[in-house]
Amino acid sequence: MTAPVNVTVTGAAGQIGYALLFRIASGAMLGPDTPVRLRLLEIPQAVKAAEGTAMELDDCAFPLLAGVDVEDDAARAFDGTNVALLVGARPRGPGMERGDLLEANGGIFGPQGRAINAHAAGDVRVLVVGNPANTNALIAAAHAPDVPAERFTAMTRLDHNRALSQVAHKAGVPVSEVRRLAIWGNHSATQYPDLFHAEVAGAPAGVLTADTAWLSDEFVPTVAKRGAAIIDARGASSAASAANAAIDHVHDWVLGTPEGDWTSAGVVSTGEYGVPEGLVCSFPVTSSDGRWHVVEGLEIDDFSRARIDASVAELEAERDTVRELGLV
Ligand code: NAD
Ligand code: LMR
Repeated sequence: MTAPVNVTVTGAAGQIGYALLFRIASGAMLGPDTPVRLRLLEIPQAVKAAEGTAMELDDCAFPLLAGVDVEDDAARAFDGTNVALLVGARPRGPGMERGDLLEANGGIFGPQGRAINAHAAGDVRVLVVGNPANTNALIAAAHAPDVPAERFTAMTRLDHNRALSQVAHKAGVPVSEVRRLAIWGNHSATQYPDLFHAEVAGAPAGVLTADTAWLSDEFVPTVAKRGAAIIDARGASSAASAANAAIDHVHDWVLGTPEGDWTSAGVVSTGEYGVPEGLVCSFPVTSSDGRWHVVEGLEIDDFSRARIDASVAELEAERDTVRELGLV
């Protein structure tokens, strides 16, 4: 057995936290041979609930779980952390504008970025789940100048998984037969799920992209607005599927993506596909040797370009807002 990996989960007493922690402890995220030590970070009012979850984790007697600590102090919660899952965020309240939300979250993700910079392990990897995930990741990274920017990522794996299922349903094939989808841009309604490079049952997905009415009026909006549809149906935002996507993201980041396929993740742009450097943007990515690599050289037609540009413009506007607020 190897030494335990320290995994910090913020917002641990929330809905996603409850769906996430047990799967991490079971080995679903880092594999069946890697013990984990969990650190649960919560605000003081929610510490008691997080302690209840810690008791339940104990009661599962997971062989891979080396310990659980509940903290309300970021310095302690990120001390020596190898994997940080930043789930806790300020939800949008009545009458709040996007700028108010970005400002409130700056107050969370700035200090957490600083604590990661000061206390985390040298190999720390950060996944931001809390919304607006891409710009929260930008804020956290800006406060962690000693951590390489490529270690800060935002979650668009849920969007990717949603797109996989939509295509599988349309084509009447199992999800495992759908490959090489891509989510571009922001984790928001402007995101662009791209089918133009996809394969279905080993063949190009051309038959699906040729159905332009389905593509632009059904597929793209269904994936992009799925988060809102779940909130409408459940009365709460997606939790188990979001936790599952976080598991998938970190699993593939650490252990690699399957040969011949790719996935999607929000990573810090180094200018790929004309996306301004420094934005945390979703791209098609592979992972090997513990690093994400943007899939390069894809042909982007006018249909895709317009949609990618619109989502990137939204990311730029969010970046400009947090700049004006002095958060990055
Ligand atoms: P929730 O309200 O159930 O839980 C959030 C938890 O975060 C609460 O327990 C709260 O006490 C805690 N929290 C707030 N501020 C904190 C701080 N400074 N430090 C530590 N903990 C803090 O929400 P949820 O359903 O678990 O969702 C969490 C976030 O994930 C939301 O922002 C949601 O919009 C987002 N989300 C993202 C995706 C995605 O695909 N990227 C998908 C679903 C949900
Ligand atoms: C989702 O995609 O399910 C969430 O990001 C929606 C939300 O706004 O919490």
